[in-house]
Amino acid sequence: ALISMRQMLDHAAEFNYGIPAFNVNNLEQVRAIMIAANKTDSPVILQGSAGARKYLAGAPFLRHLILAAIEEFPHIPVVMHQDHGTSPSVCQRSIQLGFSSVMMDGSLMDDGKTPSSYEYNVDVTRRTVEMAHACGVSVEGELGCLGSLETGEGGEEDGIGAVGKLSLEQMLTDPEEAADFVQKTQVDALAIACGTSHGAYKFTRPPTDDILAIDRIKAIHARIPNTHLVMHGSSSVPQEWLAIINEYGGDIPETYGVPVEQIQEGIKNGVRKVNIDTDLRLASTGATRRFLAQNPSEFDPRKFLGETTKAMSDICVARYEAFNTAGHA
Ligand code: G3H
Ligand code: 13P
Ligand code: NA
Ligand code: ZN
Repeated sequence: ALISMRQMLDHAAEFNYGIPAFNVNNLEQVRAIMIAANKTDSPVILQGSAGARKYLAGAPFLRHLILAAIEEFPHIPVVMHQDHGTSPSVCQRSIQLGFSSVMMDGSLMDDGKTPSSYEYNVDVTRRTVEMAHACGVSVEGELGCLGSLETGEGGEEDGIGAVGKLSLEQMLTDPEEAADFVQKTQVDALAIACGTSHGAYKFTRPPTDDILAIDRIKAIHARIPNTHLVMHGSSSVPQEWLAIINEYGGDIPETYGVPVEQIQEGIKNGVRKVNIDTDLRLASTGATRRFLAQNPSEFDPRKFLGETTKAMSDICVARYEAFNTAGHA
């Protein structure tokens, strides 16, 4: 059944678990996630980015893929979430399409690149909440900019993210400001910045607490214990999939993601929604490269697409279990 984000995250808070929010662009990703959720009895957040809507799927196909998932798995609660909305009007369109949750990312201007002022962020987020709540739709806001504490750079690899240098204050959400932001906007969930960034290139070495500030999450949670926190850029960048990609003709340099144990630490401290896109991309590409290399005469796309679906689904099962989502559908 389609439910609101608020309802799902309230349950997660009550029972101390987190929910991976997977980005979806096509049938295989949606299917992989639903197979995993069905296997582990987990609630599901499916999110569509601006990039997904621009891709072949477009908003109507995306929406119907998600509706098909709900129809086929009626016993699994599903949130249809719009990821990284760049303006209240983008969110309004998603609400009209039937999304049960939207993200108004007012940490950036509506170009999705330029860091905004605090006042701007409060204004666009508050207006979106007013509109969304009138329709029973939940809102995720974001305070702070995703960026690398190693390099001081924002990341815009995926077309959404600050461009250029960021200060430490911009890259680490301030607990006091977070309290003021939540009070003024009434958001249902708050995305925070703690040193993660979108894409595969988060850290040049396994992250230590100077470049991945889980302590900051603890401080924010201590200040606003009743607010559901969201971690973006939470792919773990599995080393085994990097190795497979590179073994079968790929060329991805050494890179590290957010260790699952660090996300578990976040979940102990108020993180309820964990955004993951890159991990499924890596598994999908690795499985495709391996299959085609090992089966050079095969030309039916269903063969390698089936392999990618299985690879993605295995990652989803692992995250549902690690985040203690399993058993809560
Ligand atoms: O927000 C970042 C997600 O990974 C979506 O990426 O815009 O390439 O679909 P995308
Ligand atoms: P990753 O690139 O780490 O998967 O993050 C995805 C994300 O935050 C989508 O909003
Ligand atoms: Na989001
Ligand atoms: Zn994100």
